[in-house]
Amino acid sequence: MPTDPYTTSLHYDRRLYKQDIAGSIAHARMLARQGIISPQDAEAIIHGLEDIQDEIEDGLFPWKPELEDLHMNIEARLYEKIGEAAGRLHTARSRNDQVNVDVRLYTKEAIAGAIQRIRRLQEALLKVAQDNLETIVPGYTHMQRAQPVLLSHHYLAYFHMLQRDRERFQECLRRVDVLPLGSGALAGVPYPIDRKFVAAELGFSRISDNSMDTVADRDFIAEYLANAALCMAHLSRLAEEIVLWSSAEFDFLSLDDKYVTGSSIMPQKRNPDFAELARGKTGRVYGHLIGLLTVLKGLPLTYNRDLQEDKEGLFDTVDTLHATLDVFAGMIATAQFNKERMRQAAEESYVLATDLADYLVARGVPFREAHAFMARLVAYASTRRKPFRDLTLAEYHRFSSKFGQDVYQVTVEASVAARDVPGGTALPQVKKQLEQAQALLQQG
Ligand code: ARG
Repeated sequence: MPTDPYTTSLHYDRRLYKQDIAGSIAHARMLARQGIISPQDAEAIIHGLEDIQDEIEDGLFPWKPELEDLHMNIEARLYEKIGEAAGRLHTARSRNDQVNVDVRLYTKEAIAGAIQRIRRLQEALLKVAQDNLETIVPGYTHMQRAQPVLLSHHYLAYFHMLQRDRERFQECLRRVDVLPLGSGALAGVPYPIDRKFVAAELGFSRISDNSMDTVADRDFIAEYLANAALCMAHLSRLAEEIVLWSSAEFDFLSLDDKYVTGSSIMPQKRNPDFAELARGKTGRVYGHLIGLLTVLKGLPLTYNRDLQEDKEGLFDTVDTLHATLDVFAGMIATAQFNKERMRQAAEESYVLATDLADYLVARGVPFREAHAFMARLVAYASTRRKPFRDLTLAEYHRFSSKFGQDVYQVTVEASVAARDVPGGTALPQVKKQLEQAQALLQQG
């Protein structure tokens, strides 16, 4: 029966050819070792598959969509090449455990690729922190200037988000790294197979426990997609901040020419398209996660053809995540930070209001009262468009008699230095954080 285009997966599962061939070679070796097929047949199968791999890589493989999927295409081609022995390869195997092994091998590689790229981006963030160890920038809450912080501290925040992403990928690898082959269509196979041998051949740490669960399971893809979605969320937050910070309104950083594009009609523009696209592409990755969860939710045991819908979203997520991580590593490494402007933004605003309230607390004023005095003082100063340092002591005294000449020593540097608690923004703490971050990168 010819395949209807509706059911064909060849146009995307072709991408799994290497994994499919590796899985088949390991399976053929095991069949021969166990005396299930002859050594001669195994030999012919393995050579045939190696030839096929070359054909595919040289662009010479005659793909036939009417054969439905990758697995059938390779098997049919193997017949053309070696004849009857080809028919013995599928002994003790089903496409249900075959496709599962392909996607697991693929996902393992995808995880390694994500981990390595996250590391590169973490290195770029660390470099920004090192180069800006003492650069002062306003820290924000509610998008309002809140308290001064070190830019190094700010960028290390992203380092930690990515550290968790990297750990999540590492942890999910444990559940991806399981051999499904040997589960057959659903119930296991009636041959004396050696699953552990196949696992070792393919580099899997262990074999699956329940054949029915195995052929029905796509949790490992959902986990990968969830981890990718969270990683994209982090990148998207950073992207949003880059868009803001590179605007004329902020002017905190400027992106390398490589990461901006001009407008076709407004010559002054340097649009942060890469950051915007990263923010936008986060949507499709979320979509793929929800898509797969939805595919899974109504499925009775065991394999159902719905499961074929797992692949396109996975592939697109891998491509999107890898490309986005690569872009960010380059974009962060080449961004120029406008230290003067950041400092000015901190100084001309009222980010020292908390510190001045703390100043009054140190002179015996209860914090709540000090807070109220400061709220009035900020209102007074801002209507006159005066930064704190331009207020006279007499003006300070209108709000509290506790202010003394040393109020002018409450500076952005002093504010940062005062937050000398673990995890705080004071320089000695940020230096410790940097060392920990370096150690985390060295750990792998
Ligand atoms: N193309 C299928 C998939 O991706 C392969 C497994 C097909 N199995 C089957 N019994 N039709 O899920």
